[in-house]
Amino acid sequence: MKKFALLGKSLTHSISPTLHNHWYKKYKISAEYSLLETPEEKIKSVLERIRNKELDGLNVTIPYKNVVIPFLDEVINDAEKTASVNTIYLNEKNKLVGENTDVFGLECALIKKLESSKNQSALILGAGGVTPSIIYALQKANINKIFVSNRTLKKVEEIKKKFSFINIISWEKIDEKIKDVDLLINATSLGTKGGEEFSNVFSGFKKSLVYYDVVYNPLQTKLMKHFIDNNIKVFNGLEMLIYQAQKAFYLWNKVNPEVDEALIKEMQGLIK
Ligand code: ATR
Repeated sequence: MKKFALLGKSLTHSISPTLHNHWYKKYKISAEYSLLETPEEKIKSVLERIRNKELDGLNVTIPYKNVVIPFLDEVINDAEKTASVNTIYLNEKNKLVGENTDVFGLECALIKKLESSKNQSALILGAGGVTPSIIYALQKANINKIFVSNRTLKKVEEIKKKFSFINIISWEKIDEKIKDVDLLINATSLGTKGGEEFSNVFSGFKKSLVYYDVVYNPLQTKLMKHFIDNNIKVFNGLEMLIYQAQKAFYLWNKVNPEVDEALIKEMQGLIK
């Protein structure tokens, strides 16, 4: 039986095992996907288990998406572009490879659904683990007027070293900036169940604004509801999670698992 796992810290709420194990059952692949809660000092030895073939692949979540990089032999494609790895496997030459499927996840969950990306501007709130993937997905779609704001300035300055074209907006100025952007993306953890909420009362935004939130638990945050009440098109982070899993599943098993309405509904049902 093949073994896959999610490497991270504080993984209790992850729905990834249910998603992957659903596909393993559906496609009759003898494999299981589990959670691998790991302290930072153990990462190297966990990755060695892929070289030893005790493990067949790993997903990586915050806070380790760039911490794993020094332990890999190759960082390819979107992972190289973002310095953010969320999928690891051993290739046919026995090289430990780091790939990124979050960029693909956002492309499926948001970019493909936009009516237009030409001359569009985006404001990203947050500079955590997923922000480089969001910036790169927007850049690939030619949305290159990108503004990024983060409570801690240092972190967004770090991201600008890799993506020099982004414009930094101070955290105090987001209420103002939101008035002239086409796309607003929450890439912070604000709004997550049991956590803190935005204290801002966003107003004055364009009628055509599209709001994307990486949060999927709850499926509708207070801020999403605020935008829905103002007739703004809103997406939560669940589909990005599902589509990043789809690409990871393909990389590991060379089977492209189907994502359909029934699966999305089933995953929604897991979020309480
Ligand atoms: P990490 O910061 O370890 O990468 P993350 O979940 O990927 O973790 O990112 C959390 C994001 O939510 C960060 O942008 C964080 O801002 P800071 O860099 O200032 O910590 C943001 N965030 C979390 N709580 C916040 C709060 N109460 N107010 C504003 N931003 C918050």
